[in-house]
Amino acid sequence: MKPIKAGLLGLGTVGAGTYHVLQRNQEEIRRRAGRGIEVSMVAVRNVERARKIINSGIVGSEVEVVADPFAVVNNPDIDIVVELIGGYDLTRELVLQAIANGKHVVTANKALLALHGNEIFEAAQAKGVMVAFEAAVAGGIPIIKALREGLSANRIESVAGIINGTTNFILSEMRDKGLDFNTVLKQAQELGYAEADPTFDIEGVDAAHKLTIMSAIAFGIPVQFGSAHIEGISQLQAVDLRYAEQLGYRIKLLGITRRTTVDGKEGIELRVHPTLVPGARLIANVEGAMNAVLVQADAVGATLYYGKGAGAEPTASAVIADLIDVTRLATADPYSRVPHLAFQPTELADVPI
Ligand code: NDP
Ligand code: HSE
Repeated sequence: MKPIKAGLLGLGTVGAGTYHVLQRNQEEIRRRAGRGIEVSMVAVRNVERARKIINSGIVGSEVEVVADPFAVVNNPDIDIVVELIGGYDLTRELVLQAIANGKHVVTANKALLALHGNEIFEAAQAKGVMVAFEAAVAGGIPIIKALREGLSANRIESVAGIINGTTNFILSEMRDKGLDFNTVLKQAQELGYAEADPTFDIEGVDAAHKLTIMSAIAFGIPVQFGSAHIEGISQLQAVDLRYAEQLGYRIKLLGITRRTTVDGKEGIELRVHPTLVPGARLIANVEGAMNAVLVQADAVGATLYYGKGAGAEPTASAVIADLIDVTRLATADPYSRVPHLAFQPTELADVPI
């Protein structure tokens, strides 16, 4: 079968990570998706820089690089648009245009979905295309799949955790190495963890974007970013972290969403704020850019999801998982074509057991 054609919007931290992992693991990905996934077009601002990234790959010269992202979403040869630009004005237009053109969309953009998710999902539903967004929440942790599929038998009571890598990295480095806030923030930017506008990270907005998305899935409600209480870490000082430590606590920026009852009226709580967590708790010991999400549900009880919450390849892992899912579902009669265990028996013969 011919490869499915993907167009990448953006080739920055996540875009380049996605491109490299797609190339490096192309054989495994082809087997798992049931057909190849080919990046045939990329849109960026700096075309020269992108060409260098692509030419360092295996099949670089076949990729068309353009400066106009609408050239990708309007290209009839592109089956899946992968939005990795960020921000929510231009990307709203691009994603809605892609959907109107009948293309499936994969995005890592939590800001876009927290603000315009209801409109985007409605448009996709009406057009019969998929919008997949595993990478938008908690980087490489498959938390969207867990909430939507793994826990789908449960009544979920709460979802809480560390869902911003930049702030967790800042808090860890300030506490352990005594570094000042701005020095560590700069490191987080250099490591590719921070948002283009890092105030989204440090003021808790990015965590609230992600929390809003998880809340919508966990409780079956529309995306309601405007209802979130948001407080970041910019007012914290090294001395706060030290005093917390002396009292047996760690300060973590937590996102918490749960069922609640106020004056006999049931509702959903959405809040992001620095929290004193007892030092012995697992979540208190999540360090650096790692994320951890704790879900309380009626049948299974508590489940905890832990992993890298930011960075090029952890995020690429989630973007590509979505690309594989979309490819499977977009391919007619997927289950007759995609083996549930995607192995080739001949390969096993060489593996000593
Ligand atoms: P970067 O800033 O590293 O990359 C953005 C890319 O978009 C760049 O290639 C840039 O082009 C391109 N771009 C920006 N504006 C335009 C435009 N007008 N037209 C065409 N191309 C444009 O961002 P990230 O890769 O870090 O983030 C991308 C998305 O992924 C964001 O939504 C972010 O929130 C999300 N995300 C990021 C994670 C991370 O760890 N970094 C983790 C999870 C999600 P050029 O290269 O020419 O500048
Ligand atoms: N800026 C985000 C973070 C990227 O630090 O968690 C991952 O979504």
